[in-house]
Amino acid sequence: MQKLAVLTSGGDASGMNAAIRAVVRSAIYQEMQVYGIYQGFEGLIAGNLSEMTLGSVADIIHRGGTILQTSRSNLFMQEKGMEQARENLNQLGIKNLVIIGGNGSLKGGYEISRLGINVIGIPATIDNDVVYTRSIGYDTAVNTVLMAINHIRDTASSHGRVFIIEVMGRHCGEIALAAGVAGGAESILVPEIETDFEQMIEKIQAGIGRGKLHSIIIVAEGVYPVMDLQDYIVEKTGQDTRITILGHIQRGGTPSAVDRILASQMGKMAVDCIASGLRNVMVAGREEKIFTIPLGEVINGTKTPELEMFELARILSI
Ligand code: F6P
Repeated sequence: MQKLAVLTSGGDASGMNAAIRAVVRSAIYQEMQVYGIYQGFEGLIAGNLSEMTLGSVADIIHRGGTILQTSRSNLFMQEKGMEQARENLNQLGIKNLVIIGGNGSLKGGYEISRLGINVIGIPATIDNDVVYTRSIGYDTAVNTVLMAINHIRDTASSHGRVFIIEVMGRHCGEIALAAGVAGGAESILVPEIETDFEQMIEKIQAGIGRGKLHSIIIVAEGVYPVMDLQDYIVEKTGQDTRITILGHIQRGGTPSAVDRILASQMGKMAVDCIASGLRNVMVAGREEKIFTIPLGEVINGTKTPELEMFELARILSI
């Protein structure tokens, strides 16, 4: 009987539970034995795992977070940790490991695959920064940000204020761009594109000139300190300017239909890969298609932002 284990790793993302459910149920459907590893790579090193049944994943498809819990493991990046992880899997005769997580987790997966474990990756991170694919959790996070923009727009126009909204996306402007376009932001600041501060100020001033009641500026975390940005806008425009940092609210909540479906398709595909003998790949999903990419290619790639989206936002926010 084929054996596999599944873990979630790195920052949690809504839809991880739907992916765990799909992996467990598809594995049992294919008469495989499936184990859940708790707390990500930390749990793998500690040998914290147990067999999962159909019932283990009942009533979780709609829940945010991850029932397996997660961690960001420094131990795993060291040889000793990795050897221990392999040993724990070998002792139970588990040759296949499904890793649900973002870039760091997939990198960890690639390393352990070099020790002989067959690793199948499933991309899950709200940042959507894994190459070649859409990631589980991104759609839900964008919708959460959108809801926040809608709420802020109400109060911003009531008071005639400028609002700076900081969103997540370490080194990556995907959430900021998508939520900015869908939310009608005046300016979007992302790490991949140099900010034209003069243009940002001109837009605010032009808006005031036309009798516009508010301005929304979306900033991806880490691009620019939002307090400095606030001081700069106040100095240049004299406008009452407020800051909202959305933070971890973007990571939780019930997953969207898009994320649940993607997670279900990817989870099943991961098990199909194991059944068909495919080794060390990431399951990817783009434009309604689910396919695989060698793990080695994924970890060396860098996702480039969609410049057309940025251009779209720029044109529509004049
Ligand atoms: O999950 C990815 C991410 O949300 C980044 O956008 C953010 O910088 C980071 O996680 C925050 O991580 P932590 O929860 O460990 O503070």
